[in-house]
Amino acid sequence: MTNKQSLFLVVEGLDGAGTTTISARLADALRARDLQVRLTAEPTDGPLGSLLRAHVKGDANLDEQTAALVFTGDRADHLGQVIRPALRRGDWVVCDRYLLSTLAYQGAAGVSREAVLAASDRFDVPDVTFVLDVPEEARAQRLAARSRSERYEGAELAESLRRSYEESIELLRSAGHRIEVIDSSQSIDKVLEDVLSRLDLPG
Ligand code: TMP
Repeated sequence: MTNKQSLFLVVEGLDGAGTTTISARLADALRARDLQVRLTAEPTDGPLGSLLRAHVKGDANLDEQTAALVFTGDRADHLGQVIRPALRRGDWVVCDRYLLSTLAYQGAAGVSREAVLAASDRFDVPDVTFVLDVPEEARAQRLAARSRSERYEGAELAESLRRSYEESIELLRSAGHRIEVIDSSQSIDKVLEDVLSRLDLPG
């Protein structure tokens, strides 16, 4: 990994693992090193992403096969409109969730991971995918503190989602993806330090 090359970084994890907080902190830390950073997220703010956010909140109802297709379509749009242009400009990209989420979440709901992977074969492979790993008790406490619970947050799903993440990580690793699992039960500063320590950064 050379210092000058911009990287495509993804932050992943179960709901309550802290992906949004760590993505933002990672982007800030990179900017503090004078790097240009595009912070972005999936589902996106685009038309497919809006439908997916409604689905996640329970305001719309897609079957999970359809949801997997729409998440994949949203990702194609995201790559074309945001991620690739940013990388072409030489910006670093920090993306809150990406392909691993579809494999883990829709895979847990019975969608074929191989089919999702096959539909994603032209998609950019992140330079590093960080998976924030948090013990179930701490995660449940964080979720309970939120005002509104979402489709995939129920305690009854936790075990199968956790297993699905593990299986999906193995699948992506065997497809050549670099995946770093980070202990996210630590303080935010320590999680960020661990993330940064896995990157060969300038300055
Ligand atoms: P978030 O904005 O809090 O990260 O929530 C997004 C939700 O959408 C989260 O529950 C995970 C879910 N999701 C999927 O089920 N599949 C996907 O491909 C993506 C990107 C997110």
